[in-house]
Amino acid sequence: MSYKNLLAPGRIGDLELRNRIIMAPMGSNFAEVDGTCGERIQAYYEARAAGGAGLLIMGVCSIAFPAGTAEPYQVGVSDDRFIPGLSQLAERVHKHGAKIAMQLQHAGKTATRDMAEGRELWVPSMPPPFQTDMMKALTPDELSNFISASRTRNRPTIRVMQQPDIEQMIEWFASAAERAQRAGFDGVEIHAAHSYIIAGFLSAYYNQRDDQYGGSLENRARLMVEVLHAVRARTVKDFGVWLRLDAYELHTDGGITLEECKAFAAMAEAAGADAVSISAYAAIKNGVAFTEAPLVQKPAGFLDWAGEVKKSISIPVISVGRLEPDVADKAIADGTCDFVAMARKMLADPELPNKLARNEAASIRPCIYCYVCVSQIFVNERVKCAVNPFTGAESQKVIMPAEKARHVAIVGGGPAGLEAARLASLRGFKVSLIERSNRLGGTLFFAALAYPENGKLLDNLLHQVAQLPITVHLNTAATPEFLQKIGAEHVLVANGARRDAPDIPGTDGKQVWSGDELRRLMTGDRADEVAKAKLSITQRTMMKAGSLTGATNSTDALKQLSRLWMPLGKRVVIIGGGLVGLELAEFLVERGRQVSVLEPSESLGREISIVRRWRVLDNLNKHDVPLLTHCTVQRIDQQAVHYQDAEGVSLSLTADSVVLAIGAGPDETLANKLREADIPLQSIGDCNNLGYIEGAIRSATDAVLAL
Ligand SMILES: Cc1cc2nc3c(=O)[nH]c(=O)nc-3n(C[C@H](O)[C@H](O)[C@H](O)COP(=O)(O)O)c2cc1C
Ligand code: SF4
Repeated sequence: MSYKNLLAPGRIGDLELRNRIIMAPMGSNFAEVDGTCGERIQAYYEARAAGGAGLLIMGVCSIAFPAGTAEPYQVGVSDDRFIPGLSQLAERVHKHGAKIAMQLQHAGKTATRDMAEGRELWVPSMPPPFQTDMMKALTPDELSNFISASRTRNRPTIRVMQQPDIEQMIEWFASAAERAQRAGFDGVEIHAAHSYIIAGFLSAYYNQRDDQYGGSLENRARLMVEVLHAVRARTVKDFGVWLRLDAYELHTDGGITLEECKAFAAMAEAAGADAVSISAYAAIKNGVAFTEAPLVQKPAGFLDWAGEVKKSISIPVISVGRLEPDVADKAIADGTCDFVAMARKMLADPELPNKLARNEAASIRPCIYCYVCVSQIFVNERVKCAVNPFTGAESQKVIMPAEKARHVAIVGGGPAGLEAARLASLRGFKVSLIERSNRLGGTLFFAALAYPENGKLLDNLLHQVAQLPITVHLNTAATPEFLQKIGAEHVLVANGARRDAPDIPGTDGKQVWSGDELRRLMTGDRADEVAKAKLSITQRTMMKAGSLTGATNSTDALKQLSRLWMPLGKRVVIIGGGLVGLELAEFLVERGRQVSVLEPSESLGREISIVRRWRVLDNLNKHDVPLLTHCTVQRIDQQAVHYQDAEGVSLSLTADSVVLAIGAGPDETLANKLREADIPLQSIGDCNNLGYIEGAIRSATDAVLAL
């Protein structure tokens, strides 16, 4: 596919862009604590410019720093002292042919830093009472660092904006835009979405004013229009000025609707906006709402709305929200939108535009929609990407050519091993990848069954390894003799976690499966051993059929097949409510099983990022899956799992099958054996420290860069 529409030059006002790919605005927490742009954030944006995007939009830049901010390391643009860092950043972006704009923001009622630091919260009118159960899923540690923890600690003081405050707000926006222009930026995006100050005025739910800024559509849009006029008046003609709007305010009685959004977009056009960007917002009454909007989980979740807005105005429309390149290209070709903004994809792979242009789509590191990045913001941390540890560390982590092209052997073909092999080869080492089973992928292959996005990462890792001069040894044990035979000079051991059967009577029953046994069975990795011990003749035959036809080689085919022969009965009890247990529960529920989860500790899904945890728990709750915490399992028999609840009451759950999803831990057995044979090595991934996909990729990267 040529992506010719996506890669065609475009224009926003007088701003010429080399293609239609925009890096969507993202608060990153990469600025310095005083709001200036230091090396970290400069290098982060430079990498995206070098990656080929047409335009980068720097997320949530504060017009009244530190007032009106919601993140601890937000960019400021409210004073000339911010200009030097901003100018350097703009220069570094321009060097690569990209344009850069600044998203101007005042967080209004969600300015959590104002709450924490005792400043008044600026609002259009007294906010209606708000209740959320999003905190329920958090661990105590997360709760204490949570972005709005201050809301509960300090009762916020509210400032319903009077006329002088409105004038002050307009002045803040206008002078910030003027400053952005002086710093060499090409434009500004006025943030009029996501419940921040302008969106608060636009929304009939949050704006209860009875003056000329409240009531009718025109009145509610007055602040937006006056900001646009003021920004236009203070900037030159070819400076881009546009705004971000919500197509909907979901789960909000009387909140913004698509019809209103269309009217606001038309008013913005009349007030001189060069474009509109169409996002959406959902009141976070429960955490999962955040994955409806703005961080939509549904592919192309806002595209139709952008298309509707486009029909009602003549300035360009920017669409956003899980837009895959092929969908994006078609949307532009069809005239549904003019530009496509990508957020998470640009964290996962800044080179995405260049790779499309070079016809290398398969080598784009895919976003797996795990929400690790944005969950960082919820706990006031700097953003990170689970599949790309270079994000936010662009100037520290650099792939340098190896000083000496040593022979590096990598033991284990899971995510850590694959990534280590790829990076070591890129550095110029001679690389051998040794895998005990008959296929690469390790636990990622199985993880892809439970959560298909993981399969895209696996495909990408396999593709990239296949492109490089890496010698792969399948069905091979990494003995000292073998390593010596191939002449390995350094070894990275990445053979995965150990999964101990817990000390519970009954775990040796035929109906009890360890996560490892299931994985081996379903991925074909030494499945015969498991099959012999636990499967009926029919199941064994089906499994044989599956592996003979090669179906177990593809996650998709495997997914289909697992519907047929997965060896679990109707009622399944999963012991362990961590990442593995909960993702497996989702997978089984989807296949018609009645699932219950017993978790020994107080929290569920600790290893899952906060935002994705909200989704998983919501999904399981919707399927009425009992999720029981503080459970001590006492014994398992043919009929049931017997346990004690938090009060020490003995209870049982009927179970046809039981899955043990606890007891995983680092496993240095192989590494120690090789160390005893004086083999120079390092262990990475889960065998060294349990960290799942993110930990695997990160530790592989760090180890290879340090070689
Ligand atoms: C880490 C992160 C931070 C974000 N911060 C902002 C922000 O500062 N301003 C904004 O308008 N949207 C923000 N968003 C939303 C994105 O701009 C985008 O609309 C959303 O992620 C959907 O696009 P995607 O599917 O390409 O990620 C953020 C998204 C992420 C992942
Ligand atoms: S952290 Fe996860 S959701 Fe965020 S960009 Fe990376 S892969 Fe995508």
